[in-house]
Amino acid sequence: MAIAGPAAAALASLKPGQVAFLQSLEKAELHAHLNGSIPIAVIQQLGKEYLDSPLSPHGDAVYATIGQLIHGSELETIDDFFSVFPIIYHLTSTPESLARATRGVLNAFLDGDHPQCNYLELRTGPRETEYMSRELYMRTVLNEAEKYEERVGVILSLDRKTGQKTWQECLDIALKLKGEGRRLVGVDLCGEPSMGDVADFQTFFYEAKKAGLGVTLHIAEIVSGTPEETLKLLSFQPDRLGHATFLNKEAMDIVIKNNICVEICLTSNLLCKTVTALESHHIRQYLKENHLIAICTDDILPFRTSLLAEYALLLAQPPLGLGLTEDEVKEIGEMSLRARFKIGSS
Ligand code: IMP
Ligand code: ZN
Repeated sequence: MAIAGPAAAALASLKPGQVAFLQSLEKAELHAHLNGSIPIAVIQQLGKEYLDSPLSPHGDAVYATIGQLIHGSELETIDDFFSVFPIIYHLTSTPESLARATRGVLNAFLDGDHPQCNYLELRTGPRETEYMSRELYMRTVLNEAEKYEERVGVILSLDRKTGQKTWQECLDIALKLKGEGRRLVGVDLCGEPSMGDVADFQTFFYEAKKAGLGVTLHIAEIVSGTPEETLKLLSFQPDRLGHATFLNKEAMDIVIKNNICVEICLTSNLLCKTVTALESHHIRQYLKENHLIAICTDDILPFRTSLLAEYALLLAQPPLGLGLTEDEVKEIGEMSLRARFKIGSS
């Protein structure tokens, strides 16, 4: 998969021995959204079939979005980023196309001579479409993921804009699949960070945790998020946090004291402009505290990155990277493996 942007520049600056070191490093990808991680070649194929079909009511938007994904387009704010998903969803609306997209993602992370990671936790929000129920959506993803056995876990994402009826349905599905012994390892709160009232999701996360599912929450992703919201989310006792960019001292103390793993998505933050530069990225604070972190990609499709390239951002010399030593990077890879959700535990 072709990569571009800051992580690609960091990777290109490394010596062959350093690249080999990163390739052989033991690591887990813990924060990858399915529909944001579909390889561009798979999107192009799905897009072609959509455009060739007699019914393609969103053809112009699909065509334009695929063009943007191939060539990249500057995001003004994080809001621009979310607009791509409704278009991608036209291409993964049947069980067959969703299964192909899932296979593409699993292949991108786990196959080949140098797999991106040793273990992948793939997250996705079950969508109800004209062709499938939310439950069939989740079963379709799990069927593909389980072919990789213990190398993959699936996380059910709850979108912040969903209402009570949907979260109740998602909870029922999560508990049912967990009860059947499927490889559903956790639940996530995601979606446009300015939407919804997080208090509405308290029961969902409480019940999921009680059932032994891991809990990860996108938290403090944008500067306008309030300290009250952040503290409310922390009161759900999450095992991991996505981004955690704008934590105040009180929230940071809770995260450190409870050893809550922070999923760090460097390129995602830089391209969505929630962080202005690597030098000011909150990863520095966590590194200083030797706090549990996992380096992750978030959405390799729009961000045109890879897990290897995200690790290159750690190893490359400033200003392209953080200039960490190989030992420090190795320790970060080990941390990501430690932070996996385990089947049967919370
Ligand atoms: P899906 O759950 O497989 O459909 O993956 C795409 C969805 O993940 C998007 O519609 C968003 O709701 C969510 N998502 C992807 N990236 C981010 C992020 O950085 N912050 C919050 N939500 C995200
Ligand atoms: Zn995310």
